Amino acid sequence: MGDSAVRLLLCSTIFFSISIPSKSIPDSITPNRTVTANETLVSSQGNFELGFFNKSKNWYLGIWYKKISPGTVVWVANRVVPLTDPSGVLRIVNPGILVLLNSSGTLIWSSNSSTLVLNPIAKLLDSGNLVVKDQNEPDPENFLWQSFDYPSDNFLPGMKFGKNLKTGLDRYFTSWKSSEDPSPGDFTYRLDPSGDPQLIMRSGDVVKFRSGPWNGLRFSGFPQMGPNTVYAFGFVFNQEEVYYYFTLVNDSIVTRLVLNPNGQIQRFAWVDRTRGWVLYSSAQTDNCDTYALCGAYGTCTINRSPPCGCLKGFEAKFQQDWDKADWSNGCVRMTPLDCRKDDFVKYSGIKLPDTRYTWVNKSMDLRECRRTCLEKCNCTAYTNYDIRGGGSGCLIWFGDLIDIREYDENGQDLYMRMAASEIGSSAKEKGGVIAASVVSSVGVLILGLSMVYWLCKRKQGKIKSSIRGYTSMSQKDELELPLFELATIVNATDNFSEDNKLGEGGFGPVYKGILMGGQEIAVKRLSNNSKQGLDEFKNEVVYIAKLQHRNLVKLLGCCIEGEEKMLIYEHMPNKSLDCFIFDGKRSVLLDWPQRFNIIMGIARGLLYLHQDSRLTIIHRDLKAENVLLDSEMNPKISDFGIARSFIGSETEANTKKVVGTHGYISPEYAVHGVYSMKSDVFSFGVLVLEILSGKRNRGFHHPDNDLNLLGHAWKLYVQGSPLELIDPSIRGSWPTECELLRCVHVGLLCVQQSREDRPSMATVAVMLGGEGSLPRPKQPAFFTEASPVGADSSSSKHEAFSGFESIITEVEGR
Ligand SMILES: *[C@@H]1O[C@H](CO)[C@@H](O)[C@H](O)[C@H]1NC(C)=O
Ligand SMILES: *[C@@H]1O[C@H](CO)[C@@H](O)[C@H](O)[C@H]1NC(C)=O
Ligand SMILES: *[C@@H]1O[C@H](CO)[C@@H](O)[C@H](O)[C@H]1NC(C)=O
Ligand SMILES: *[C@@H]1O[C@H](CO)[C@@H](O)[C@H](O)[C@H]1NC(C)=O
Ligand SMILES: *[C@@H]1O[C@H](CO)[C@@H](O)[C@H](O)[C@H]1NC(C)=O
Ligand SMILES: *[C@@H]1O[C@H](CO)[C@@H](O)[C@H](O)[C@H]1NC(C)=O
Ligand SMILES: *[C@@H]1O[C@H](CO)[C@@H](O)[C@H](O)[C@H]1NC(C)=O
Ligand SMILES: *[C@@H]1O[C@H](CO)[C@@H](O)[C@H](O)[C@H]1NC(C)=O
Repeated sequence: MGDSAVRLLLCSTIFFSISIPSKSIPDSITPNRTVTANETLVSSQGNFELGFFNKSKNWYLGIWYKKISPGTVVWVANRVVPLTDPSGVLRIVNPGILVLLNSSGTLIWSSNSSTLVLNPIAKLLDSGNLVVKDQNEPDPENFLWQSFDYPSDNFLPGMKFGKNLKTGLDRYFTSWKSSEDPSPGDFTYRLDPSGDPQLIMRSGDVVKFRSGPWNGLRFSGFPQMGPNTVYAFGFVFNQEEVYYYFTLVNDSIVTRLVLNPNGQIQRFAWVDRTRGWVLYSSAQTDNCDTYALCGAYGTCTINRSPPCGCLKGFEAKFQQDWDKADWSNGCVRMTPLDCRKDDFVKYSGIKLPDTRYTWVNKSMDLRECRRTCLEKCNCTAYTNYDIRGGGSGCLIWFGDLIDIREYDENGQDLYMRMAASEIGSSAKEKGGVIAASVVSSVGVLILGLSMVYWLCKRKQGKIKSSIRGYTSMSQKDELELPLFELATIVNATDNFSEDNKLGEGGFGPVYKGILMGGQEIAVKRLSNNSKQGLDEFKNEVVYIAKLQHRNLVKLLGCCIEGEEKMLIYEHMPNKSLDCFIFDGKRSVLLDWPQRFNIIMGIARGLLYLHQDSRLTIIHRDLKAENVLLDSEMNPKISDFGIARSFIGSETEANTKKVVGTHGYISPEYAVHGVYSMKSDVFSFGVLVLEILSGKRNRGFHHPDNDLNLLGHAWKLYVQGSPLELIDPSIRGSWPTECELLRCVHVGLLCVQQSREDRPSMATVAVMLGGEGSLPRPKQPAFFTEASPVGADSSSSKHEAFSGFESIITEVEGR
C-alpha cells in the first residue's frame, strides 16, 4: 500500500454524471433547511459536495469530490435502499437525526445518535466528513454522528480504519456491488482486533487477503510501505482504540484508498496535470498475497515454480494433491514436537503468519519472549512485536502457522519451534534462514500445465453458480479464473459453427459466442496439434489472469475438458484497430478525438503492464491487430501469447528466438534478441505513427523516396512539415494542430534507434497529456525499408486473434 514512487497509472474509477442542474447551498443544514434533488451541499473550501446522484435508474445520496474529479463518489448514505426517483429530501430533525425521505414521505435512510440536542446542525466538512452536532457546542470535534464512522468503500485522510474497543464501533469498508451499483458488495476490508490486529479482506466470510500485523513501521505484508511524498500514516493500538489512519503530506496531493467491487484494495492519487486518478499502489501485488495459498507451514515465493514450498523440516501433508498444485492442505512436521526439549529456528525475510491466534506483550524482550514460548507447549513461534530500534515486545503464536510468504526486502524474522533433532540436521545448514534472493530468470513464471489446471479449477464450486448468474462473474477475484463447462461453450458458439468464427489466431480459431445470460464472448480454441499454441495458451492464462485494466482485454475464464483447451474473453464488437485505420472506407469512422483516446488508452494499458505489480510485463507483440476495440471504441490490448515478465530490478533479457511482428520490432531485439520495456515503447511509437498516418509501417511506400513510414515521418519532421503525415480522413476533425504535432513528436521519440533515447511509458503518458517539454528526437531506427530483420529470417505464417494476417519472424540470435 505504500510504494514510495507514484506509479503513473491512469485508472478507471467510479464515475457518474450529474444530470440535474444543481444549485449549491452552503455547507450546513438546520431543521429549517433541507437538501432536495436540485440542490447540493458544498464544504466551505469547496473540496467536497453532498447531493443526489443516479446509477442505473436508482438514486442515491452521496458525497463526492467537488474541486477535483466530481464523478468520484466517496460515500453513499442509502446504499441498501435506493430511491426510485430523484425526488428525495434530506433533512435534520430534532433531536439531531439526519433522515432521507422519498416523495411519499417514507423513511429511506437515517443516521442515529444517542445524545439529544435542541439545535442540531448537519455540516459537510472539507475532509469529506458529514457531521451532526449541536449548534451551541463549543468543541469543534464533538460530533453526535459522523459519516466517517460509517464509511462506504473509500478510506479518506482523517478517517479511522478500525475499532473503538470501548463502544464497539467498527469502521470498515464494504465494496460496491459493481461500478454501477453502490449497494454493499461481497467484499469487506476490516481491522481484525483478535491477537495482534491486522487488516483482513474477506469475500463474504472467506478470508482473501490480510495485511499482516503492524510492526511499528508498517504492516508486515506491505514491505514497500514507507515514508513518501504523498501520505503519512500511523497505527494506534491501546486499551481504548485500535485503528490505522493516514494524512496528506501536502494538501495539494489528494489520495484515497478504495476497496473495489472486484476485491482489489488500491490507493489512488489525483494528478492535476492529467486530471486523472493514478494507481499509486495495490495491497495485493501477486498470487502469493492470496490468503493461505500454500496452507499451514507452507511458504509462498512468487518467483519460484511452483510458488509454494514447505518450511524446512516439513513435508507436504498430501503429496498427491501437492503435486497437482493443490497446496491448500499445507505441510506437516517430519519430527513431532516434544515441548520442553524443543528449540527454535530463525526465518528471515518473511511476511508474518496469520496473527489472529497470537498473544502480545509490548514490554517483554526477545529472550523473555522465547522463554515464554518455550514454557507453553502449544506455542509454535515467537518474534518481536515491534521491529523499531532493534526490536521490542513479544508476539507469540499458538497453533498452525498459516499464510507465510517470502519477500526480497523488508521481510521480518520469525523464530519457529522445531524438534531439537530437526535443528541438528537440515535446518542448520543454512542457519535455518530462508534465502529470499531474487531468482531472476526470465520465464520462471511460465508454469506447467498443472498450474493452468489449478488456476482454472480452484473455485469450481463457485463457478457453476456464477455462470448461471453471469453478472457476478466479472467481480470474482482475478486469480480465480472461472472454469466454463464444455457444454456451455458448445451451446454459446452453436457448436463452433462457421458462422460464429471470428478468425484464426496463432493457436487456433476464434469464435464468437453468446452465453445464456446474453453476454457476448470470444472463444479462443487451441488446436490439438499446436505445440507453440500450448505454450502461448499457458502464457496467456498466467499473465492475463493476473491483469486487470480497462485497456487490457479481459479473460473471463477457460475451459479444459479432455482434449479441449479454450480461453474465453469478453467480446470486442469492433474487432481490432487495423480494421479501421488501414481501411480506406472505415478510417473515416475514427475521428481524431477517438484516435487520440485510443493512443492514450494503449499508453495506459502498456504503462500498467510495465509498472504495475512486481512483475514487469513486456508484451513483445504490440501492433494494430492486437489492439481490440470495445463498443465505445476504447482500446484493449490483447494477445499475451509471447509476453514475458521481469522480476525485481532486472530490466532486460536476451532471447535466441525473436518472435514478434515485422515493422514493430525494435532494432536491438531484431538484431541482438535483446528485449526490454523499451522494445514495447518502440512498437508503441510505430503504432502511434500508424494511427496518425493511416498507413502501415510495413509495406509503406512513398512515390518520391524509398523510405518506410518511420523514415517518411522523420523526413517530414526534419523539413518542418510533420502535418503532411496525417491521414487525410481525419483532417476535418483536427481540434488543435498542437495535439497532432505532439503525437507525431512523441511517436518519433519512441522509435529512436537507441533504446536509451526512447522515453519510458510513464514519460510518454505525461508527454501525451500535454505536459513536459519534448526533447528533439534523433533519427529513427529502420530508416529505410531494407531492415536488418529481413536478411536471414525464416518466416512462418501466423494470423492474429482478429483474423487479420501478420507475420511472426523467428531469427536465430547469436
Ligand atoms: C426556524 O424557522 C422558524 C420560523 O420559521 C424560527 O422561529 C426558528 O428560530 C428557526 N429555527 C432555526 C433553528 O433557525
Ligand atoms: C428545486 O428547488 C426549489 C426550491 O429551491 C423548489 O421550489 C423546486 O420545486 C425544486 N425543483 C425540483 C424539480 O425539485
Ligand atoms: C440518470 O438519470 C438521467 C435522467 O434522469 C439519465 O439520462 C441518465 O442516463 C441516468 N444515469 C445513469 C447512470 O443511470
Ligand atoms: C417510497 O418508499 C416506499 C417504501 O419503499 C414505497 O412503497 C413508495 O412507493 C416510495 N414512494 C415513491 C414516490 O417512490
Ligand atoms: C445506530 O443504529 C445501529 C443499527 O440500527 C445500532 O446498532 C446502533 O446501536 C445505533 N447507535 C446508536 C448510537 O444508537
Ligand atoms: C505543497 O505543494 C505545493 C505545490 O506543489 C508547494 O508550493 C508547497 O510548498 C507545498 N507545501 C508544503 C508544506 O510542502
Ligand atoms: C508483559 O511482560 C512483563 C514483563 O515480563 C510483565 O511484567 C507484564 O505483566 C506482562 N504483561 C502482560 C499483559 O502480560
Ligand atoms: C495453550 O495451552 C494452554 C495450557 O497450556 C491453554 O490454556 C491455552 O488455551 C492453549 N491455547 C491455545 C490457543 O490452544
